Amino acid sequence: MIDKDIEHSLNLLKNRYSCRQFISRRIEDDVLNEILQVGIRAASGGNLQPVTVIMIRDQSKKDKIRELCWQGFIADADTLLVYLLDYHRLNSWARVQQAPFGKQYSFTDFVISMEDVMCVAQSIECAATLLGVGSVYIGTVNYVYDELKELLNLPPLTIPVVMSCLGYTKSDNEEIHLQGHLRRKLSQEVVVHNESYQPVSDETVKEEIVASKYQNWLQKMSGEVLEKYKAELFEVAKDVNGEEYAAEVVKRIEEQQGINRAQFRLGYHYNPVRLREHNKNVFRFYKQQGFDFWSE
Ligand SMILES: Cc1cc2nc3c(=O)[nH]c(=O)nc-3n(C[C@H](O)[C@H](O)[C@H](O)COP(=O)(O)O)c2cc1C
Repeated sequence: MIDKDIEHSLNLLKNRYSCRQFISRRIEDDVLNEILQVGIRAASGGNLQPVTVIMIRDQSKKDKIRELCWQGFIADADTLLVYLLDYHRLNSWARVQQAPFGKQYSFTDFVISMEDVMCVAQSIECAATLLGVGSVYIGTVNYVYDELKELLNLPPLTIPVVMSCLGYTKSDNEEIHLQGHLRRKLSQEVVVHNESYQPVSDETVKEEIVASKYQNWLQKMSGEVLEKYKAELFEVAKDVNGEEYAAEVVKRIEEQQGINRAQFRLGYHYNPVRLREHNKNVFRFYKQQGFDFWSE
């Protein structure tokens, strides 16, 4: 038997959603502090806590970040939290206690520290949800490292990982409100595998992903627009999967007279060629910040 209060909290967590409509109500200091305290208590590899959270409430700074991250609602959030992977503080600790320090040379340490950052961020999201504060992550901070470094005074050995927008949202009618916001997710059977990995069959993909999660989403189009998408997705597929597969992509677009969800999400919205291009900016910034996984 699950206790009623716990059940209520679990339902709040199960009904969480990314909130992108904020009202201009201030988050009270005690509420914000509780949320942050939960974040600080998050699990951490070796309990080293290589994480810093920069809290931004100044409107002009929020406006600037909205511009940088191209998302209007950012400026309406009461509080922005920028999560950094931070070896700067650990390096200071090493210096003060005369310890060797080289975490910035280990890619595995880097991955674990990223996980640390997300543990803090997700604890904060959960606490906010339980306290009725809406939130949404912003990943586009990863496209504007230099600008954020200047704006937030980031020292060497720090990397912005993700940002959260926090604020109250309209909730006049909870049920209608949730219906409009809850995104469909994969079923437990698809995500959780018992004891060992179970490769997904094409049938399950069709049922669980295409039909159930994305409701057979298809953006119908014709004429010039159709030709434009055909040409663009052909070039992307040719680059990442070869010409033969690219021809199949185009054939499918013609048959459907439009693009389906996978083509939109994986080929167009998150264009893998453009994303691969961005690698060099990422690695340049990491190097500039003192990270080096590439030398022996
Ligand atoms: C790492 C990460 C980065 C994200 N970046 C953005 C973003 O830049 N803008 C945005 O509106 N939502 C962003 N989101 C939110 C996702 O779009 C959202 O979680 C997803 O659509 C599922 O919706 P739900 O959170 O309501 O279940 C991000 C989520 C994660 C986990």
